[in-house]
Amino acid sequence: MKSYQKVFENNKKWVADKKATDKEFFAKLSEGQNPEFLYIGCSDSRATAEELMGAGPGEVFVHRNIANVVSNIDLNVMSVIEYAVAHLKVKHVVICGHYYCGGVKAAMQAQDLGILNPWLRNIRDVYRIHKKELDAITDEDAKYNRLIELNVEEQATNVIKTAVVQRQYINTGYPIVHGWVFDVHSGNLVDLNLNFEEKLKDIQAIYNLGSLK
Ligand code: CO
Repeated sequence: MKSYQKVFENNKKWVADKKATDKEFFAKLSEGQNPEFLYIGCSDSRATAEELMGAGPGEVFVHRNIANVVSNIDLNVMSVIEYAVAHLKVKHVVICGHYYCGGVKAAMQAQDLGILNPWLRNIRDVYRIHKKELDAITDEDAKYNRLIELNVEEQATNVIKTAVVQRQYINTGYPIVHGWVFDVHSGNLVDLNLNFEEKLKDIQAIYNLGSLK
């Protein structure tokens, strides 16, 4: 069987399995969504969102792009954050990077990659901000892993820079922004334990959006 046809076979099996556990499963799903999480991760096929979290349909609002970047001028990710935070009222926003990330690796190479250049620039900017720390790491793999972690931290910081996250948190105590790294080699999810309150305070000292006062 061709892989393309197999997808539809898999889907039939999945529907049957879900209905076997709960006859009303899809009827309930169609009533609406109320996810607690917004997950922003890498498009890498190995770093699945729901599967690695053990989550099912309706539980996670998902956005993925190359190297889990949150760019201020990317209407796509900004719309996802606005919708998830202001309308779905998610309680947690997660930036989830992963070790062995090809996007981060590419940003570490001296190479012209065409239209990928402006996207990967976001990661080179992370390198520039943390140059002192990264340049001090002599082992290339260790440096690569650290850049992956710092990229997660900077993209989480970019989430905190948005007015919608600041306003919603001040008004309701949510969302909390988290930074995670998925380790492809072990399957483990690593919590970088970012201090959200402290980061928010630092960010508001500079990125203070007047409407929040
Ligand atoms: Co990646």
